[in-house]
Amino acid sequence: MDIITTFTYEDLSRIAAKHVMDKIRQNPKLVIGLATGSTPTGMYQFLVEEYQNNKVDFNQITTFNLDEYVGIDKQNPNSYFSFMKNKLFKHINVRPEQTFIPDGTKPSLEKECLHYEQLLGKFGPVDIQILGLGENGHIGFNEPGTSFKSRTHIVELTPSTRNANARFFQNDLDVPTHAITMGIQSIMEAKEILLLVSGENKKKALHQLLYGEISESFPATILQNHPCVKIIADNEVLHNNS
Ligand code: F6R
Repeated sequence: MDIITTFTYEDLSRIAAKHVMDKIRQNPKLVIGLATGSTPTGMYQFLVEEYQNNKVDFNQITTFNLDEYVGIDKQNPNSYFSFMKNKLFKHINVRPEQTFIPDGTKPSLEKECLHYEQLLGKFGPVDIQILGLGENGHIGFNEPGTSFKSRTHIVELTPSTRNANARFFQNDLDVPTHAITMGIQSIMEAKEILLLVSGENKKKALHQLLYGEISESFPATILQNHPCVKIIADNEVLHNNS
């Protein structure tokens, strides 16, 4: 694994954005796996700024988001669809029909999971997968105990993940209990993984990811087996490792 440490979250975001832009310049048809959450937000901001300065063209890329809540429709401001639209898609020239996000409102969620895997098969493989890291080691919404062989599936969110996400909702009871997520196997098929880790609360998880035994009880440890992982972490995370 290639690890870059930065002094600030801003540097982390800038370096991550530059890496993604370099990849797009090498391959304008890049297939990018996207994450939501706090960590990649700064990177998205830099990508938007660079687009506004005519430094990058997103017209031919394809994107696949990792996950979406169940029962939250696209218009809901807490949907990951709204998140991506507001943080990135509406500001750049990506073609909407080339941006894929699971739909957690479909009558048959099982069919939606299969459909998403078919789309990944048709337009993939993902060239670069952006990941954040859950404090409990989740990647995507693959919670501890998820099979390493899993593909896109429905998950019940753990109390710790629901708590972590409660900050985005007005009422704790509004936090969804389930989500659709790309599986660990689906994530591992990306040619490259770009993992972004920021903040004191992630230091234990990063340590475990790097040095822990590879185990389904801490899903992110599977990344030790991926041939091409780049981690960008702010100093706060690495310096406080114990
Ligand atoms: C989001 C996702 C999650 C987050 C993780 C970290 O699409 O798949 O795995 O990356 O929960 O979230 P933040 O960045 O908010 O700490």
